[in-house]
Formats: sequence, structure tokens, C-alpha cells
Amino acid sequence: MAGGHVIPVGETKIYPGRLTSYALFACMVASFGGLIFGYDIGISGGVTSMDTFLSKFFPKVLEKEKHVIDSNQYCQFNSVLLSTFTSVLYFAAFVSSFFASSITRRLGRKITMVGGGLIFLVGAIINGVAANVLMLIVGRIFLGLGVGFSSQAVPLYLAEMAPMKIRGTLNISFQMMITVGIFVAHLVNYGTSNINGDLGWRLSLGLAAVPAIIVTVGAFFLPNTPNSMIECNQTEKARTMLREIRGTDDIDLEYEDLVAASKQSQAIKDPFKTLLGRKYRPQLVMSIVIPSLQQLTGINVVMFYAPVLFKTIGFGTQASLMSAVITGFVNLASTFISVLTVDRFGRRILFLEGGVQMTIAQIIVGTLIGWKFGTTGMGYIPKTYAIFIVIFICIFVAAFAWSWGPLGWLVPSEIYPLEVRSAAQSITVSANMFWTYVIAQIFPPMLCSFKFGLFYFFAAWEVIMTVFVYWFLPETKGIPIEEMQTVWKSHWFWAKYVNDDNVDSGHVEISNVSV
Ligand code: BGC
Repeated sequence: MAGGHVIPVGETKIYPGRLTSYALFACMVASFGGLIFGYDIGISGGVTSMDTFLSKFFPKVLEKEKHVIDSNQYCQFNSVLLSTFTSVLYFAAFVSSFFASSITRRLGRKITMVGGGLIFLVGAIINGVAANVLMLIVGRIFLGLGVGFSSQAVPLYLAEMAPMKIRGTLNISFQMMITVGIFVAHLVNYGTSNINGDLGWRLSLGLAAVPAIIVTVGAFFLPNTPNSMIECNQTEKARTMLREIRGTDDIDLEYEDLVAASKQSQAIKDPFKTLLGRKYRPQLVMSIVIPSLQQLTGINVVMFYAPVLFKTIGFGTQASLMSAVITGFVNLASTFISVLTVDRFGRRILFLEGGVQMTIAQIIVGTLIGWKFGTTGMGYIPKTYAIFIVIFICIFVAAFAWSWGPLGWLVPSEIYPLEVRSAAQSITVSANMFWTYVIAQIFPPMLCSFKFGLFYFFAAWEVIMTVFVYWFLPETKGIPIEEMQTVWKSHWFWAKYVNDDNVDSGHVEISNVSV
């Protein structure tokens, strides 16, 4: 281990200082990066359920939808082009998250956020004025590139500006902003669907420019993090900034640790290769498995396609969009429950309870739909029956929102030691975006061929992820990041990989910063 600062296991270092209003304000502006991500997640489903949008870009889908009585309901929205419109954004985010890691490292988090916001702004404008499908897709690619950069840079920025004690809460604030973005997008769709002609969907897509401008302009005026400054050899500036954001002159201890941590991370030539080392096996596995399983809950079937799903079960456009507003609200409100309980009850209990609740809710939703539509997809769902389906979808969304939603980002961020953190974080973002892309692309054809069984498919994944957490994910609540290796060392399975032979016993490295 490359000459890092060490402390004895069991002793937690407390740095002096508090959360100053300056640091809080900077974090709030940065977390708007989550808002643009969320807005994207929520907006596409709504516009694809608007007739004016479909008739302009996807007339065949509209034609199929208008003949619902004698056509298979499960296949109404099965169009490769239509799913590409939704999914391409996440493919672009997947690609950009590979480069984002080295850009955030070399140019700093601030410049990455400004760049991400600008690219996103370009995408929003292209989409708002789109004249053909190509423009729509190109606009979505720009949005995706922006999302990839901000999903890498914002969590790091927050982690570095926040005092250590409240890092977890601030990390969840990023997820919180994602859910706010989704909710706002559903509300906007509900409002704009009343507007005649093309203006409605143009406003929905174009309004993405608002959070993009806030992030770009805000990030431009934001200070760089002390960590970034140290990496760019601006040591005096870094000291001044640390004093300012901690509200104290007593910053020597933290400053020295930042410098040591920075040297240590620079000593690692290839963090990706380092991550393949045996002692990092649990982190490597978690960096891929947690975000992948988060997406295999099927959450984005609801987040992207809620209005389309509600139309499939027989709601009109307005009722579908209203139901999406309701699921968006449940998502937002339930995330608060996570904020309030995650440090009290721990991560595992939320993961396990959430997994069981999601499984039951998905099975009920699948059964309710299958009962009426059978395997032919022909049938009629009465209003009250459809309301029951919406209620169970909300129960599913609530469970996700207090478990796999925030924890799917929080747990990875707290288990990576400094020397592999940038690499592992970028794998987490990439895996998340990759599966988000896959689900967005395959949901409509899968619904068409698996029919109501699609909900059982996701339920099966929820069983798998719950069993996985039970056996393989140790509790990380209240454990300082620098002591995390001890958790693996005492775990029945991971102890095979992480042990006293490859981890310094009694001493662990300080990894108080994210780089
Ligand atoms: C996921 C998104 C999802 C959102 C829903 C996030 O944690 O990464 O894919 O749409 O939660 O709130």
C-alpha cells in the first residue's frame, strides 16, 4: 500500500468543522445534476403517450393504439424505434461514464459538471425543436452524454464538499433530486398534454433546458473541491477553500489527510487493474452486481413507461398521465423514509424488506393483468380494477424508493477504498446505465412476448437479489469507510478473499475523500 496515512482500526478520526451555509449551498446547486437525470427518466414515457407526438414521429404506433379493441394490448407500444427513443439516452450515458472517470480526475468535478450541463442543454434544445426522428435521437444522445458526466461528477463533488458525518445523507440527496426530477417531469407532462398541437410535447422535452441552465450556470460559479485543487497542485487555494467550507481555521488534520490520500491515489497507475486484485474481490463484485440488480427490479418499466403501461390497461391519456404523477409522488415521498431510517435501522433491513415487498407487489400486478388479458392480450379492464393495479404498482414503487433506489447508489459509494474508488465508481455508473438501457430497449418487446409473465420475471429477480443481500452483503451502517475492510474480513464468504495476508492487520488506510 503506497505510503498512505494510517489509523488504528476502531479509532474514527473526527475532523473539526461544521456544515457551513456556503458548503450547503454548493451541494444544493450540484445536486441539481440529479434533477436533470430524473427529468429525463420521467419525461419520455409521457410524451410517447401523447397522440400529437406519436402521429408526428411514430404514426404506426398510433395506428395500432387506435385499434385496441381487436389488437393485442400487450403489443400496442412494441416499436423498436419508439424504445430506441427512450433507451438511446442511457446508452450514451453508459459510453460517457467510461470517460467521465478520467475527466473528473484530470479536469476536476466542477468543469465536468459545467460540461455535462452544457451538453445536456444542447440536447434539450435539439429535442424541443425536433423536426424528425433523427433529431429526436440525436438530442437524446446529447442528453445521455450529459447524464453520464453528471452522475459521475455530482456524487463525488457532494462527497468531497460534505463534512464526513453527513456524507451518507448528502449522497441520498442526489437520489432525492432524481425523484424530484421524475415527479416534476410527470407533472409537466400532465400539464402539457392539454395543449393542442405540437406545442405540448415540445414544451415537455424543451423544458429540460431549465434544470440544465441551473446546473451549468450554478456549476460555473461553484468552487472546485479542495481535493481537485490539491490534484492540480493549487495547495494554498485548497487550504483556503477547506477553511471556508468547514467554517474553521483548524483544518490541518483534514488537509494533511487529503494530501496523503491524493498522493496515494496518484501512485496507483492503473486503478482498474488494481481493482482486479484478489483483496478487492468484494468491491469488484458489488460494483457490478448492485447497480445491475437495482435495474433488474424492473423499476424503470414504471418510471419510463408508466403512462404507456396505464394506457395498456385501458386508461385514457389524461388518466394515464395522472397515474404517473401519483407513482412519481409515491417515489419521492418514500425516498424520505429511506433518509430517515437508513442510519438508524441499517442498509440490510431496508434491502431485505424492500425486496420482499417488491416481489409480492409484482406478482399481484402480473396476476391482476393476466386475469383480465390472459395470454391473448384481449379483454377489458374495468376502472376500479385498474385502480387496484395502480395501487399495487405504488406499493412496488414505495418499496424500491426506500431500498434499492437510494441504497443502490449509497452502498457502493461507501465500500470502495480510496485507491480504487474512481475506477469502482465508474464501473457502478456504467453498469447502472447499461442495464437501464437494456430494460428501456427490451421492455416493450418483452411485454409483447412474455405478456403478464413479465411481472413474474422481475419478481424472480427480486427473489434473487433478496437472497443475494441476505448471504453476501454485510451491514455497512455506521462503519467509517476507512474501516470497511474489516467488515469483509469477518464475513463468512468474503473472508476467503480479504484476510490478514493481503490487508494490513490493525491498520487501515485513510480514505476520507473520493477521487
Ligand atoms: C435509478 C433510476 C430510477 C430511479 C427511480 C434511481 O436510483 O438509478 O434508474 O429511475 O432511481 O427513482
